[in-house]
Amino acid sequence: MRIARCVKGIPHFVPQGRYPLGRGLSMPLLCLCLLLSLPVLAAGDPKLGKPLHDKQCVACHVKLLGGDGSGMYTRKPRLINDAVALGQRVAACAAQTNAGWFPEDEAHVTAWVNQNWYKFK
Ligand code: HEC
Repeated sequence: MRIARCVKGIPHFVPQGRYPLGRGLSMPLLCLCLLLSLPVLAAGDPKLGKPLHDKQCVACHVKLLGGDGSGMYTRKPRLINDAVALGQRVAACAAQTNAGWFPEDEAHVTAWVNQNWYKFK
């Protein structure tokens, strides 16, 4: 009943199948929106994060603390105590280095740092 009423509601001067935002346009749009939102939602991949981290993050931590720089993540008390704070810290540090990373790059690096040192769930 509902659907029938709805169809009747389409103004009769608009040719069937060529409705302005009908099937023709809305499906590609929906796909595009889904595609664009995927990288942001996707969880980081530590394997992709490692080279980025090696390139942009390690040298400065080594200069500060010596060793392989990982002392920055294992010091006590450490600054970062949950996964959200870690993500924010990585994003803030990445912004400082002018690395030009995309949010998914930050997610990869966060995943790498977390997998190796912080181990937040
Ligand atoms: C120019 C130097 C420099 C660079 C480059 C740098 N960091 Fe840092 N990082 C620091 C300093 C200094 C601290 C300690 C900040 C403090 O104690 O307030 C720190 C702290 C951190 C911490 C928190 C450590 C803790 O106590 O838990 C994380 C996580 C971190 N950095 C990640 C990164 C990542 C990821 C990158 C690469 C995008 C990066 N850093 C690049 C200097 C740097």
